Amino acid sequence: MKLDKRQDLIREYIDFFKSKEHKEIPSSSLIPENDPTVLFTTAGMHPLVPFLLGQKHSLGKRLVDVQKCIRTQDIEEVGDTVHHTFFEMLGNWSLGDYFKKEAIEYSFEFLTKTLKLPLERLAVSVFAGDKDASKDEESAKTWKKLGIPEERIAYLPKKNNWWGPAGETGPCGPDTEMFYWKPNSRKAPKKFDPNDDDWVEIWNDVLMQYEKTKDGRYIPLKQKNVDTGMGVERTFAVLNGIEDNYQTSIFIPVIREIEKISGKKYDENKREMRIIADHIRAATFILGDQRGIKPSNIGQGYVLRRLIRRAIRYGRLIGMEENFTSKVAKAVLPVYPDYQELHRNHKFIVSELDEEETRFKETLEKGLKKFNEVAKNKIITGKEAFLLFQSYGFPIEMTQELAEEKEIKVDLDEYNEEYKKHQDLSRISSAGIFKSGLADNSEATKKLHTATHLLNEALRKVLDKNIHQKGSNITPERMRFDFNFPRKLTPEEIKKIEDWVNKRIDEALPVHREEIPLSQATESGAQAEFGTKYPELVSVYTIGDKKTWFSKEICTGPHVSNTREIGRFKIIKEESVASGIRRIKAIVE
Ligand code: ALA
Repeated sequence: MKLDKRQDLIREYIDFFKSKEHKEIPSSSLIPENDPTVLFTTAGMHPLVPFLLGQKHSLGKRLVDVQKCIRTQDIEEVGDTVHHTFFEMLGNWSLGDYFKKEAIEYSFEFLTKTLKLPLERLAVSVFAGDKDASKDEESAKTWKKLGIPEERIAYLPKKNNWWGPAGETGPCGPDTEMFYWKPNSRKAPKKFDPNDDDWVEIWNDVLMQYEKTKDGRYIPLKQKNVDTGMGVERTFAVLNGIEDNYQTSIFIPVIREIEKISGKKYDENKREMRIIADHIRAATFILGDQRGIKPSNIGQGYVLRRLIRRAIRYGRLIGMEENFTSKVAKAVLPVYPDYQELHRNHKFIVSELDEEETRFKETLEKGLKKFNEVAKNKIITGKEAFLLFQSYGFPIEMTQELAEEKEIKVDLDEYNEEYKKHQDLSRISSAGIFKSGLADNSEATKKLHTATHLLNEALRKVLDKNIHQKGSNITPERMRFDFNFPRKLTPEEIKKIEDWVNKRIDEALPVHREEIPLSQATESGAQAEFGTKYPELVSVYTIGDKKTWFSKEICTGPHVSNTREIGRFKIIKEESVASGIRRIKAIVE
């Protein structure tokens, strides 16, 4: 089945699963909420972790969506025909409802009946079994029954056929993956060779039945789930018989713009143009996200900065001297009419890209000066090359290229050692963000969740009725809450806020949860976080008696059932995070 636009594939997928009683949920933000374990949403399952662990979802046990994702661990691979840092993932979920057999049957039906992909070009892999879980004979049997021949089934170990957890701990399980034979000019071999890159993975059905614990054990989950992921870019390309994702309608307008600005042809500059298109598309989505952030030197902001600067460096390699990143971003936007946040944040995307590009050009000049200094010697030491990389943003390839022009050498071995040392350090620090495990439902988190709702009300009561939540982040140790307010809070105000919250705790008020349509929730005065998309049916948490409630919020929870369970509420810090935005950090004791 040939499809014109990416939206057509998304529609087919969602409609198919809706016809199988799945409910559609909106894409979550790229910046995970209340989850300190990862920087970005890396898969469709990520926002669903609490529900995979057993919490009830307001829309039931069968869900479907398309989720925007960022994965940067394969950034070096970008430049080939199929890898991307940003991508869209289609997914269907069973939260303790159907399992292996149905999941595979749905996948098969969608691929061969709806999309009409020929069986001769399909192959699958299943889990080979090990000490943690047995060989997945049942999945293999189901595939065979549907018509996949034995020689098109590969049995592979954990390294290939196990998915998750997304962080250090959390839901995971064996998976079964679907591959498509991409070359149009050659017939698919009879036997499936998973090491042959001409077989492209297009879909992954994860049979989630384990939770990985902190001490590395796999314990059975409360419920058996199905978590699937189909890459929009790849599937859209193979459906149209196109072997290069960048030659589909998702990327063509972007590549054309790069050709126009550079005056060069895609065919002669594929790698550079793919990297620019990929990185600027990712940057556009991070900047334009409902929780959009700016380039910086930490966390998500740092990843964003690297993406933009890497694109700029590749831009220079193909002769783009003038600022070009915002022009490329403008070509990305029309491809995504369905992500309203991008269009709402259009101006912000453009101005931040322009600013970052101008700023990088300054370090680029300084870096070139530094290079000329160190290039006076016969050899550029690894430490110097690393300094150029670290302090001036010079990738090693650029230093090497410049060195070649001057007919001098770079001590690459020493550079690699320095780089590795640095990587080890950053690995240690990124392991730090995985420390507290995936979004948890611990008692500590529940207390802080409910305390956050009380704080939200207290701010409106004590300071200003126009205050709204701008973001929050909860770990078992503390809560963080951002809100609009123009100035620093006085010690008296902080005390009043604490007292107000503690009084509500002392009153031992009931916390009540209900599931109602979104429109009814907002009409009834429930608070919602600005810029967040919600499904049609939402959970609303009310604190206080049903009639005289004073706090009502759309929220996925979890919460305590009575405010007295919270303990003592204490504000430990109050600070500014951006112009007009304050942040409170608080704990419960
Ligand atoms: N969570 C699975 C993946 O990302 C579906 O591949």
